[in-house]
Amino acid sequence: MAEEHAAPRDSALRPRIPRVPGGCPGPGPETRPWAGVRRRYTPGMASSPPPETPAPVPVIEVRDLVARYDEQVVLNGINMTVNSGDVMCIVGGSGSGKSTLLRCLLGTLKPVSGSVRVFGVDMANAPDKERDAVYRRIGMVYQSGALFGSMTAWENVALPLQEHTSLDGKIIDISVRMKLGLVRLAGFEDRLPSQLSGGQLKRVAFARAISMDPEMVFCDEPSAGLDPRIGRGIDDLIRNLNRAFNMAFCVVTHDMESVRVIANRITMLAPMAGGAQVVFSGTAEELDACEDPTVRDFVNRSPLKEPRWEPAEILKQLVGED
Ligand SMILES: Nc1ncnc2c1ncn2[C@@H]1O[C@H](COP(=O)(O)OP(=O)(O)O)[C@@H](O)[C@H]1O
Ligand SMILES: [Mg+2]
Repeated sequence: MAEEHAAPRDSALRPRIPRVPGGCPGPGPETRPWAGVRRRYTPGMASSPPPETPAPVPVIEVRDLVARYDEQVVLNGINMTVNSGDVMCIVGGSGSGKSTLLRCLLGTLKPVSGSVRVFGVDMANAPDKERDAVYRRIGMVYQSGALFGSMTAWENVALPLQEHTSLDGKIIDISVRMKLGLVRLAGFEDRLPSQLSGGQLKRVAFARAISMDPEMVFCDEPSAGLDPRIGRGIDDLIRNLNRAFNMAFCVVTHDMESVRVIANRITMLAPMAGGAQVVFSGTAEELDACEDPTVRDFVNRSPLKEPRWEPAEILKQLVGED
């Protein structure tokens, strides 16, 4: 069982997290818009409005992206912008190129033409050093969880801090416990992946993805393979992390119910002759109003209208109670 969760160390999607000079695990002050902003005391301050959230800035800019595997063009002219603090959902049917787009965003697949900029860095052409600086600012949650099967939850979450910072063991311990607490897994530190449920595994994967306090997290199908109730818990986790830390998310999913809970922006891909294109870009409300037949077809085919059933309600139905 443990093997099932073993992460391929050389996985193409696994961002390499470089050593951080000086051992600081988080982004540098230049990457924290609030750094250096101090409120000075002024009479009547108690009644003055709270400081405003920093204006959103683009963190991902995809322009006219064309990508292919050998002779098969998979993405054909993709445009997408993700701003700081956004939860962007990339949706589309199976095989529409969502994971391929994610690979281009991470710089593991080089576009044929067009560009992908993450934090202003051209992911296909920048020198390793610049790309590494980007990897330091992002986290990744893999579809499989990709935890190391022979390591405990604590060890899995601690690994990026141990490998890429020179933080004291005590500080790492506090940080790891905090992150496991944030994903509601306090007390599960010593469990191996084989001793955790599917939802708990996914939570550990989130704790590991945020261990270095990233500004943005990529997730590939975060609720795939989970029962719907557990999947909704993952949605809540994404929403809470986004709201509490203004952490941006770029979530690949085909689960429209999840999209409605978490997304503030949606990019929909649809396969076309000559490669997938963006058929919709906007908010959930704009998606509802969109009359494009391809968009409507995808939205209507999703189990969007299914009610969320709690176990107690299912039990009531089974025993015939109202
Ligand atoms: N490594 C690969 N080599 C060749 N073709 C691939 C590879 N990965 C994906 N594809 C093809 O690219 C298309 C899009 O795949 P993918 O990006 O995985 O779609 P999605 O994530 O939306 O399901 C599919 O036709 C798939 O078969
Ligand atoms: Mg995929």
